Amino acid sequence: MHRTLTYIHYFSYNNPAIHDRLYSVLPNRFWIDKVMERENQKPIDESHPQKPRQLIEKTMADSYMEMNLPFKSSPALLEEYIFVDGRIRTGKLLEDLDAMAGAIAYKHVDNGDPDAPPVTIVTACVDRLDLLLPNAVEDYKLIGQVTYVGTSSMEVFLKAEIIPDGESEQSSLSATESPKPSPEALGHLGPNTILATRFTMVAIDSVTRKPAKINPLKTETPAEERLFEFAKANKARKKRESETTLSRHPPTQEERLAIHDIYLQYSQYKGAEQDPMTNPEDKKPLPKEFIWMEDTRIDSNFLMQPQDRNIHNNIFGGYLMRRAYELAYANSTLYLKSQHADLLAMDEVIFRKPVHVGSLLNLKSEIIYSEGHPHRSFQCRVVAEVVDIEKDTRETTNVFYFTMAATDEKTEPRRILPKTYAETMLWLDGKRRRLQGVSSRHLLLEQLAKEK
Ligand SMILES: CC(C)(COP(=O)(O)OP(=O)(O)OC[C@H]1O[C@@H](n2cnc3c(N)ncnc32)[C@H](O)[C@@H]1OP(=O)(O)O)[C@@H](O)C(=O)NCCC(=O)NCCS
Repeated sequence: MHRTLTYIHYFSYNNPAIHDRLYSVLPNRFWIDKVMERENQKPIDESHPQKPRQLIEKTMADSYMEMNLPFKSSPALLEEYIFVDGRIRTGKLLEDLDAMAGAIAYKHVDNGDPDAPPVTIVTACVDRLDLLLPNAVEDYKLIGQVTYVGTSSMEVFLKAEIIPDGESEQSSLSATESPKPSPEALGHLGPNTILATRFTMVAIDSVTRKPAKINPLKTETPAEERLFEFAKANKARKKRESETTLSRHPPTQEERLAIHDIYLQYSQYKGAEQDPMTNPEDKKPLPKEFIWMEDTRIDSNFLMQPQDRNIHNNIFGGYLMRRAYELAYANSTLYLKSQHADLLAMDEVIFRKPVHVGSLLNLKSEIIYSEGHPHRSFQCRVVAEVVDIEKDTRETTNVFYFTMAATDEKTEPRRILPKTYAETMLWLDGKRRRLQGVSSRHLLLEQLAKEK
């Protein structure tokens, strides 16, 4: 079997807009055409003998990429991204970020050898992403490069910025020229930054399907060194934090008090679980400023189609992110009884298992935590499960946590009440995430304010 999908095609063939964008703005189209031609020739037949992959030292500049998304100046592009509220469709933006991270990772992995054994790039993890989206439609620019390389994994730093009026024309004119990579500019968050995040991409040997050793990364300037060290520390942090989930760390003393308080609250209302402490006759109807967690649940099923796959018949991480976010948005509007909802942040997402074409993706969404009015933000959790139709088995592939917010003054978010111990644990997890999120957003806004 030969690879028939092209390099860019690989990441974007279900999305003509990004396909054309990637084509038109890549620093060097000829380079990409050459790689495509080469990739098309590579056999991924297990019986075909593979030579060892030659590793070459690469720089950050080698993988640098820019992509303009001129929503304001291109009505045709805007038409594809416009959301019901007249703003940009956030889910599509998440999908584009994943596609771009994949293309950047491929640029790093490429060693210029036409006979190098083929690799497939998969998204292993996306760091927390705080969104500072503008209220009006603007021209966007996505920029990114590899900032850290392990053995088979690489960190891709990505940033989205608004292109100020007047500079848009200049940017789109220079789109076919080589952009000037600048690690200082990449690491710098300014008033035009709308998001900055890090994707961990892993190279998988297309034949053995095991993680493949990739080109090492050479830092050339102190700014690059800083980006590299930050990414290295980030990788170590992720490992540590993966051990601090609720199931591994029981509630703290303070959290135990919060659990007891919430129990005292929910047990007084009709509809709560029966408990020996409260006489059912004494229970009150649930006030309108509360809602049971179980009453916020919705779900959705999608058959995984070939258009959203990579060459191993696995679905792209960006596709899952878009689907999960769009369900979270629908869930938020139902909970708020208003279409005025927006994404503030997406917590770190880990893609533990591939999702295969032909399987059924079941997404379940619920609102797990809200302080209630006058607070406007709330936590929404989406669990992605893959159902193997023929074997009748289910497996959780990802859990997404979105911080959403009501965006108009009239909408009053209701307080979430759990009913069971399991729901109380979700509620507590949501509370923890809110606290962490508030502090990390605060730090981000402080940093942006200093740059102004
Ligand atoms: C990513 C994946 C290949 C890792 O598999 P694994 O069995 O954990 O493999 P390893 O432990 O050998 O890890 C491979 C590399 O990935 C890194 N890695 C794995 N999970 C990671 C995570 N959550 N965050 C950061 N790095 C991670 C490891 O540190 C290792 O890096 P190194 O080789 O540079 O040291 C596997 O989890 C997978 O296939 N996930 C699904 C990917 C996918 O299909 N994504 C699209 C969405 S469906």
